[in-house]
Amino acid sequence: MGIEKLPIVGQADIDKAMRHGFHPIYKRFHDPDFEFRPQFENLGRDPALVERNLMGMFNSLAAGKRRWPLYLFGAQGCGKTCAGLAMCDMTFNSCFWDVDLVIDALFSRNPYDWKPIANHEFAVLDEIGGRDQVASAEVDAIKKFADTRERFCNRVAVYISNHAPEKIKELYGERIHSRLCCGTIYKVTGKDRRMG
Ligand SMILES: Nc1ncnc2c1ncn2[C@@H]1O[C@H](COP(=O)(O)OP(=O)(O)OP(=O)(O)O)[C@@H](O)[C@H]1O
Ligand SMILES: [Mg+2]
Repeated sequence: MGIEKLPIVGQADIDKAMRHGFHPIYKRFHDPDFEFRPQFENLGRDPALVERNLMGMFNSLAAGKRRWPLYLFGAQGCGKTCAGLAMCDMTFNSCFWDVDLVIDALFSRNPYDWKPIANHEFAVLDEIGGRDQVASAEVDAIKKFADTRERFCNRVAVYISNHAPEKIKELYGERIHSRLCCGTIYKVTGKDRRMG
């Protein structure tokens, strides 16, 4: 399936990373039968088509060599959503959200709708800043998502947007910017792949 092997991290590496506030997501990579697991069958993506440097970055994050969360941004069609889905495929116990889904969960006021955000080891939040106007529900939802990941999951999360970090500050304010952009920032640079 052309998937890159993720690192198996030893206890000494884990201890060292944790001491420096870098959190490996090592557990799920200890499975010797590690293989591609299609979790979102209806959305096509191939880990082998994710740009190489981004995969390298993901490997370092998984090994606890870089700081979570990963903030991923870039122009339309460059492959961010597919990359986020591929990362979910590569990790155990992962979940994939977009901002609308989080808003729905926020409004439902059913604590069970929130549970998946807290009890998955790996979580992706897509479509941040997807609209021209920022609604207050959006700010609340993103804040609650990020706070949940921070509180329960050592900030292990991937945030995906078309906007550079400075624009996030402008759109959502410093508190959201602080939560989303306090870890590793990566700009996806490729062309619009929808255009062929
Ligand atoms: N890893 C991949 N595997 C397979 N196809 C891919 C991959 N990356 C990109 N593509 C192709 O490029 C198209 C656009 O990718 P994607 O939806 O991930 O872009 P995006 O950066 O999320 O765009 P937007 O900012 O508009 O949401 C996909 O529909 C798919 O056809
Ligand atoms: Mg997308």
